[in-house]
Amino acid sequence: VGPWGADGCRGGGGFSLAIEGVLGGACGLVVSDALEPDFPIIYVNRGFEDATGYHAEEVLGRNCRFLQCRGPFAQRRHPLVDAIVVTEIQRCLEEGTEFQGDLLNFRKDGSPFMTSLQLKPIYGDDETITHYMGIQFFNDCNVDLGPLPGSMAKEVVRSTWITPDNTLRPSPTGKGNFCSEYSHLFQLSDEVLCQKILSRLSPRDIASVNSVCKRLYHMTKNDHLWRMVCQNAWGNDATRALENVAGTKSLAWGRLARELTTLEAVTWKKLTIGGSVEPSRCNFSACAVGNRVVLFGGEGVNAQPMNDTFVLDLSASKPEWRHINVGLAPPGRWGHTLSCLNGSLLVLFGGCGGQGLLNDVFILDLDAKHPTWREIFGLTPPVPRSWHSSCTLDGSKLVVSGGCADSGKS
Ligand SMILES: Cc1cc2nc3c(=O)[nH]c(=O)nc-3n(C[C@H](O)[C@H](O)[C@H](O)COP(=O)(O)O)c2cc1C
Repeated sequence: VGPWGADGCRGGGGFSLAIEGVLGGACGLVVSDALEPDFPIIYVNRGFEDATGYHAEEVLGRNCRFLQCRGPFAQRRHPLVDAIVVTEIQRCLEEGTEFQGDLLNFRKDGSPFMTSLQLKPIYGDDETITHYMGIQFFNDCNVDLGPLPGSMAKEVVRSTWITPDNTLRPSPTGKGNFCSEYSHLFQLSDEVLCQKILSRLSPRDIASVNSVCKRLYHMTKNDHLWRMVCQNAWGNDATRALENVAGTKSLAWGRLARELTTLEAVTWKKLTIGGSVEPSRCNFSACAVGNRVVLFGGEGVNAQPMNDTFVLDLSASKPEWRHINVGLAPPGRWGHTLSCLNGSLLVLFGGCGGQGLLNDVFILDLDAKHPTWREIFGLTPPVPRSWHSSCTLDGSKLVVSGGCADSGKS
């Protein structure tokens, strides 16, 4: 980007400042990158911002044609913009020549003005055009286009405030209060406010804006808005998965967002569990695999190392412990670890067996038709140990840490 300032922000380049010095601040100055598709703007000066009402950060990276659309939400060039002049600009940009002409443009608030535009190509070292510079002189224009559709047509919405005691009162007016400072926000139609602004906020922010005024309060009751907000916050996959969870459809998205954000609905619940883990034991290891809890081994009566596997399915209507018959069980042990891998695999490591400390690794696929523990051999395993901790990473790694080794070290 060189002299234009690599950060592309207003005031970021010595060259642009020099030009501004020559021209004075009265006109607009725009620089576009000619090496990128569609001539994205990389610099605008203060004169441009003041005259158009658009801030630099709103326009950097865009093509300057948005000035031909009436207001920030218009999707199309206004019909009164001279198509012949636009075609001439296109031709000059394609051929790499200078352009000079007048055309109708619009400020951010939708009011029209005439721009006397000069476009000049800037050449790099190898004679290729690297940038285009646009110098704009802004003139008033006397076309009466009426109010901006969807916003100006409406009277500015006098918001009603909700007081702490939940009574409604009209918003205060006058300089410096919320409504006068943000009234242009309230000139937007419900649809634009919802789709373009509120839908991009986080669930927590939506929950706070709903107490700003009556209008926002009613808008944030819209479940479609809440779905968009949840989708933005949690991503498409999570939103789709939540939609498929039984009961979600009856739970409104707003309520769901509140419960997931505040975790207010989370409480301990005492479950009555059927079945039993027999014989009784201590120092076993248990691990959650989705909605299932798996228990392996432990220390039975007379310090007997155990090697049986039990599963408790918490999503069952009547959860009960079930002993599962596995093909080849690992040697009995206690003080070992069980970790879950990829939602259905269990990894068993180490512990203390009948012959002393262990450092072996076994894997069990709970979803297999006939679940079988399978020993995994790795090079240079960690030293044998018990009472360590372990976890899985990235769906393929087992991390083992600490514990008690034979040496008595931990
Ligand atoms: C540096 C630069 C500045 C420009 N400034 C303006 C402007 O102030 N107003 C305007 O209507 N078009 C301006 N244009 C022209 C439009 O960005 C666009 O090139 C024109 O509308 C023709 O292309 P289109 O038919 O694809 O929109 C500028 C273009 C460049 C490269």
